[in-house]
Amino acid sequence: MNFSEAKSELKQLLSSVSPSELPKLLDWIRNSDELDHLLADNRRVMLRSIADDLRARLPLDAMLPSETAALHKMQQRSRPTVHVDGFLYDDEQVDALCEEGVMSRTYCLNCGSSRTAPLDFISHSFSASELQFLFQNVLPDLSGRTLVDVGSRLGAVLYGGYVYSSASQLIGLELNEEFVRLQNDVLDRYRLKDRVQVLHADVCTQDALLHSTDILVMNNVFEYFMEPSEQVRAWRFIMQNLRKRGSLLVTVPSLQETYILLLYSCIFLTMLLLKPGWVEELPVNCDIYLGREADPDALRQIHLYQVM
Ligand SMILES: C[S@@+](CC[C@H](N)C(=O)[O-])C[C@H]1O[C@@H](n2cnc3c(N)ncnc32)[C@H](O)[C@@H]1O
Repeated sequence: MNFSEAKSELKQLLSSVSPSELPKLLDWIRNSDELDHLLADNRRVMLRSIADDLRARLPLDAMLPSETAALHKMQQRSRPTVHVDGFLYDDEQVDALCEEGVMSRTYCLNCGSSRTAPLDFISHSFSASELQFLFQNVLPDLSGRTLVDVGSRLGAVLYGGYVYSSASQLIGLELNEEFVRLQNDVLDRYRLKDRVQVLHADVCTQDALLHSTDILVMNNVFEYFMEPSEQVRAWRFIMQNLRKRGSLLVTVPSLQETYILLLYSCIFLTMLLLKPGWVEELPVNCDIYLGREADPDALRQIHLYQVM
């Protein structure tokens, strides 16, 4: 049954409910999680299984000792910040770890006292809900198309693209060799290599790949991993080489937010970046329920552009 058929059947059913019971029923549909199991499917189960494997191979903060620049940038933030990887840990798992005492959502303001303030959490990966939203609601049918994830890290976008899309090729580019190895182990174990590959490469060496790609995904790739001047140079390279008319660009955060962040620290190079008419933004409909663990604010951060 498709959406409009289901909608008219549901309307029919609701019109037969006694008027005094109807508000209770509508409230139950809106707020109860008793219907959430209907959203679970084999694709989610597979992503969860990959996340379980990866969790066992990574430290709790899912950062590698070799990520010195990223660790340093997190320490420089004005508020205490911890990395909790959204692909590996959902809210329920974070709550369970907090109860065990191995993770905390707060930090102590005066050591030893009960005065605490919330920690800022950041994630370097899309969560399973964001991946489902990206491939089922943001992007069109990807049959026969090539998608490139810049900075594929744990491989979340590649696994999400494998289960939720028909893209013919899903290619990850990753600077960190340890993450490339980790992703390749997953691809072997789950037999995903028929459509997925990971390259150990800097995006700025991949002009030929950018010329041919249909969809480029950039989930906060540079902010924690490059200095502002390097970020602007990388963006310029992408603008010069992602030129195929109609190809799509997915970014978190929006290009506008990235411009503002970079403008603040490096005005001259940002002026070069602001080339009008490279892409146009396409609307994204965020009115969709993906279960209680989906964070509507995180979904709203996903932006879609089309190369003109
Ligand atoms: C925030 S993570 C993106 C994670 C992943 N795409 C996702 O959505 O789940 C950014 C990753 O980009 C990598 N990276 C940073 N600069 C890069 C570059 N110039 N070329 C390729 N990878 C890069 C970092 O090593 C890091 O693992």
